This record gives sequence, C-alpha cells and structure tokens, in this order.
Amino acid sequence: MSDLDQLVAQATAEFAGIGEAALLEQAKARYLGKNGAVTELLKGLGKLAADERKNAGAAINSAKERIEAALNARREALRQVALDLQLKAEALDITLPGRGLPTGGLHPVTRTLERIEALFRSIGFDVADGPEIEDDFHNFTALNTPENHPARSMHDTFYLENSPGLLLRTHTSPIQVRYMETHKPPIRIIAPGRVYRVDSDATHSPMFHQVEGLWIDENVSFADLKGVFTDFLRNFFEKPDLRTRFRPSFFPFTEPSAEIDMSCVFCEGNGCRVCSHTGWLEIAGSGMVHPNVLKHVGIDSEKYIGFAFGMGPDRLTMLRYGVNDLRLFFDGDLRFLSQFK
Ligand code: DAH
Repeated sequence: MSDLDQLVAQATAEFAGIGEAALLEQAKARYLGKNGAVTELLKGLGKLAADERKNAGAAINSAKERIEAALNARREALRQVALDLQLKAEALDITLPGRGLPTGGLHPVTRTLERIEALFRSIGFDVADGPEIEDDFHNFTALNTPENHPARSMHDTFYLENSPGLLLRTHTSPIQVRYMETHKPPIRIIAPGRVYRVDSDATHSPMFHQVEGLWIDENVSFADLKGVFTDFLRNFFEKPDLRTRFRPSFFPFTEPSAEIDMSCVFCEGNGCRVCSHTGWLEIAGSGMVHPNVLKHVGIDSEKYIGFAFGMGPDRLTMLRYGVNDLRLFFDGDLRFLSQFK
C-alpha cells in the first residue's frame, strides 16, 4: 500500500471511530486543514521536478478526494444518528385518544329569556333594558308606590350603603318608567332583567329574574292583555289548550290589577303536587297602567291607556324543564347545568 493509500485508510478509520460532530471537524483539520497532512504534501510539490510534480499532484488530489468522501460519509452518518435520537425523543403516540373540547351551553334561564323575547318580538314588541342599581323615584315613587308601602322597608329591599336614594331594583317595573320617559306612545315592550329582594329559601333567591311587559296606545284594553298573555303562554309551553284566569289583585301602579294563573302544565288542571292540587299555577302580576304612572312620565292619561305585566322567567323555566328547586339555577353546579346543553 502506498503512503497515500495508507493516509486515506488512516483518515477513514479515524473518522469512523468518532461519534461526535465537533470531534469529527477537529479530525478533518488534521488532514485537510491549513497544516493538515494532505495540505503539507501539496505544499511539498514545489520541491519536486516538473515531470514528477504532475503525477504526484494527481495522486495527492485523488487521496484528498477520498478523504473528503470519507469525511462527508461520516458527517452524514452522524447527522442520521442525531436525527434518529431526536425523533425518538419527540415521538408522539398518535394512538392515544384525544382529550376533546368540552362544549358550553346557555343557562336554562337564558334559554327561557331568549324564548320569551322571540315570542314577543314576533308580535311586534321591542326589548328594553334598565339599570340594576335604581333610584327611589324609578323603583317606587313614579310607580305610584307610597312612602309607607312595605316593599320600601329594609326587610324587603337592598339599599346601597352611603348612597342615599339608591337601591337594587326590586322589580323590572322601573324599566317601564324609564322607557316612557324617553319614548312616545305607541309603546310595546318587554323588559327582562335581574331583580333583588331580601329573601332566600327553596322558592326564593335574593337575586332572581323578571320580565316586564308594557303596551300603551290610544285603545288598548284589558281584553288585549288577556289575549296577548294567554297566547304567549300557549306558545311558550307549546300547549294550545292551556287556560288562564285573571284574579283581582292589587298593585299600586295598575288599576284594575290582576294576578294571572294558568292551568297546571303537569296535570292539565286536574290537580297534582306541583299546583298544590288546585289545578292552577300563579304566573304573573298585571293590570291596566295607573293614570298616576302616566302622569309621572308626562303621557296624557286621557288620551293613552294600556296594560302592563310582570312575570317570573325562573318559575317558567322550572315548569318547562320540571325543576323543583330554584336554587339549582344559581349554584353554578355543572352537573345540573350541563343537562341543558
Ligand atoms: N312589579 C310587580 C312585582 O314585582 C309585578 C307586576 C305586577 C308588574 C303588575 C306589572 C304589573 O307590570 O302590571 O311584584
């Protein structure tokens, strides 16, 4: 074996024994670098006679190429090893089942509110809104509720500390007042929202929902109230045979006033536990808007007349879905809520 062949064999063996890219580059320098063995040989060519130089040069260059080839082969092998290691380390087990994205859902009371809004919009009602922190005027005074009315007591109403005259609205009726202050008849609205009272047991929560209704025009009668509300309930419960009855009652802001009952949706009016064996369920307060209320908002009570009602969508939700404890709606327990998705 010539010296050059031996050099090539030595370099190839050395490269093959190296397992790290940085060390391989150091080994390369020993052969092909500025002072490497091959480079030294090439530098020596100048000392040879011209006729020897050609053959010797060709032989050295051939050796150089073979060393470079061995170097590149080893580089490639090391790259492959590194790649294999990386692939192994970052391996994904695509046979594992995914975690899945849980889907959310609307709160059952929200579903009810959307349903109520859709039904009333379909007969030309707008949806109005108002503040949950109200003042005494809109919550009571403008609604013809006198100074000594029990609803005004601290036992029933949350008043704001250090803010005289401000309270958490006890009903959605103040939205009637606010809407009539800024709109002229004809007025046809419902107003859903949260309301607050000092009250808490299986059927009362300190926060609950109401939906107010108001229709003011030149010729709106109690018969319209009966028709609109009965029709609404029949559509809401999808029971065309549902019956209503209007019991005389009292609210300061309506005259005459009536409590609205509907035939029990569980027993069709025959009597069961849900309706306390009466066949009827109380569902709303209502009446013809009191002239004093219209006066407070500057609407001519000689020219305009109309009805109002206030109902409890929490109760409607309980009846529609067969839930028997109001607090379940506000506990935030997903085991309960996810049933409505
Ligand atoms: N605001 C009354 C309440 O919370 C409910 C009510 C009764 C509203 C009669 C009305 C109405 O608009 O006309 O008890």
